[in-house]
Amino acid sequence: MSSPNIAIIYYSTYGTNHGVAQAAAEAAAEAGAEVRLRRIPETAPADVVNGQEAWKAAAEAQSDIPEVGHEDLDWADGLFFASPTRFGTVASQTRAFIDTVGPLWQKGALANKAVTATTSSQNPNGGAEMTLLGLYTTFMHWGAIIVPPGYTDPVKFEDGGNPYGFSTQPGALDDVGQRSVAHQAKRLVEIAAKMAD
Ligand SMILES: Cc1cc2nc3c(=O)[nH]c(=O)nc-3n(C[C@H](O)[C@H](O)[C@H](O)COP(=O)(O)O)c2cc1C
Repeated sequence: MSSPNIAIIYYSTYGTNHGVAQAAAEAAAEAGAEVRLRRIPETAPADVVNGQEAWKAAAEAQSDIPEVGHEDLDWADGLFFASPTRFGTVASQTRAFIDTVGPLWQKGALANKAVTATTSSQNPNGGAEMTLLGLYTTFMHWGAIIVPPGYTDPVKFEDGGNPYGFSTQPGALDDVGQRSVAHQAKRLVEIAAKMAD
């Protein structure tokens, strides 16, 4: 299969992971994939979101992106997750969505999907690696095929070198970040295509 289906699934409070997801979507499309960019639903109460200017603005900037549904996971050959680090693990919004996919898991629909993940944290050593490993534990329960970047491209020696997945600090992606996310997304497309053949 030269054109696998790739779902880019992300959660972002302040916009960082939104930017990562957009970069991944562009790179996956450029690599020949059919791409769906999907937002994990907000679970925080509206008054909490609207009570912080930065949160409110980021939510408005993402309002045109469709929310992820089970049908997107079912459709995809490959999944690219992006989520902030929260106290050393993924944001509860991401976890809340993951905790709804039991029926997909039960019918084996998550098995053999190629999956990869990225994250962001305030501090470079603030738990990014733990966040990715925690997500990957879940993916192992699914029987998914984890596609880490490792050090498969020179950009991994420029981007901080997290071999589990690209990790960044809050804010817009710089050039190195763009290239690293693109590499990880393209690698996912390549492996998903091989697996779907
Ligand atoms: C409740 C909470 C917990 C957080 N915990 C951590 C943490 O453990 N380590 C860290 O470096 N940053 C932590 N952060 C900062 C977030 O990782 C940061 O806001 C996020 O990466 C920004 O991504 P976004 O712009 O996509 O929302 C935390 C933020 C919040 C709101």
